[in-house]
Amino acid sequence: MKLLVTGGCGFIGSAFVHMAIERGAEVVNLDKLTYAGNPENVADVADHPAYSFVHADIADAEAVAEAVKGVDAVVNFAAESHVDRSILDPGEFIQTDVLGTAVLLDACRTAGVGRFLQVSTDEVYGSIPSGAFKETDPINPSSPYSASKAGGDLQVLAWHRTYGMDVVITRGSNTFGPRQYPEKLIPLFVTNALDGLSLPVYGDGMQVRDWIFADDHCEGIWTALHSGAAGEVYNVGGGYEAPNIEITQRILELTGRDESLIAHVEDRPGHDRRYALDTTRLRELGWEPSRGFPEALAQTVEWYTSRREWWEPIKSGEYRAYYERQYGGR
Ligand code: NAD
Ligand code: DAU
Repeated sequence: MKLLVTGGCGFIGSAFVHMAIERGAEVVNLDKLTYAGNPENVADVADHPAYSFVHADIADAEAVAEAVKGVDAVVNFAAESHVDRSILDPGEFIQTDVLGTAVLLDACRTAGVGRFLQVSTDEVYGSIPSGAFKETDPINPSSPYSASKAGGDLQVLAWHRTYGMDVVITRGSNTFGPRQYPEKLIPLFVTNALDGLSLPVYGDGMQVRDWIFADDHCEGIWTALHSGAAGEVYNVGGGYEAPNIEITQRILELTGRDESLIAHVEDRPGHDRRYALDTTRLRELGWEPSRGFPEALAQTVEWYTSRREWWEPIKSGEYRAYYERQYGGR
């Protein structure tokens, strides 16, 4: 099987590239290499005969038309992915997550690509006070990021209804693991704690997320890609629900730091209080998450502890400017 994986130099995309190559797929990785794209993430497969790389933007119609030629399926990870950045600057989110998705879809339609899998997010549903979202629930996004992802999902479903394209959408929950850019809660707090820096908890820290380890998320995407029904959506949630303050305390414990590092700061505007997913539909295809949260978090902390050479260079340059803008006045 020949796959075009977009955003394969990012966090989850790179985990998926490794999984696909190990399972015998041929992988073309198309990535724009934004601040979040890191060739180091796929350095160990760069010379593999089944791997190739295209440096391009998914919104570049000419480049993607060329890249989709001869491909059996496209797995679209490419996105601007950080909520806080979307609140500061929404433009790139609309450009990549909505327009880019539409450009890529249309290239697939023209080339007759067999299947298009859109990697989406539980955030498109919005916040849920109790219970869990099903795939049939309406979308109700809160942030420019989640609204852009929802726009992408709607394009994908429209291409199915209008042109009969074979599409599948996965909606994943909060993902963590090695190689995650240190702007998201877990890698930010782990690396800050390792350096003895404060951990900026938004508001009361009682917002709840449903956590999933990256490899389990990729396994869910793999299952939907191979066994999902055309035109369907599949939720991919780890089922480990916890308030942010609990995650923070676990990280302090695992890094040998104390609670004096916790700094409650001004809340995120439009902050969703709770996410939760009903994953029955994907479980019916045989998928289930295999990693317990405490073990997977410990493994992740261990990775960041032993891989300073991966994250220290990232936490300089552009990152410092972003950090100052995001947290400076909080
Ligand atoms: P990431 O920010 O780590 O990586 C994104 C990758 O996409 C980078 O390699 C970047 O260079 C590339 N990219 C960005 N814009 C591009 C463009 N216009 N053209 C080509 N490449 C481009 O993201 P991630 O956390 O790995 O998320 C991957 C996907 O999974 C996203 O679609 C995201 O919405 C979705 N998702 C993420 C999570 C999570 O918790 N991280 C959960 C659910 C869903
Ligand atoms: O739910 C899936 C989504 O999870 C993905 O679609 C997104 O790509 C991914 O970024 C993530 O979005 P969140 O906004 O939930 O993740 P983030 O790691 O930014 O924040 C997790 C929680 O932690 C959230 O309630 C905000 C809080 N937080 C985050 C940061 C960065 C803090 O309290 N302080 C922080 O500094």
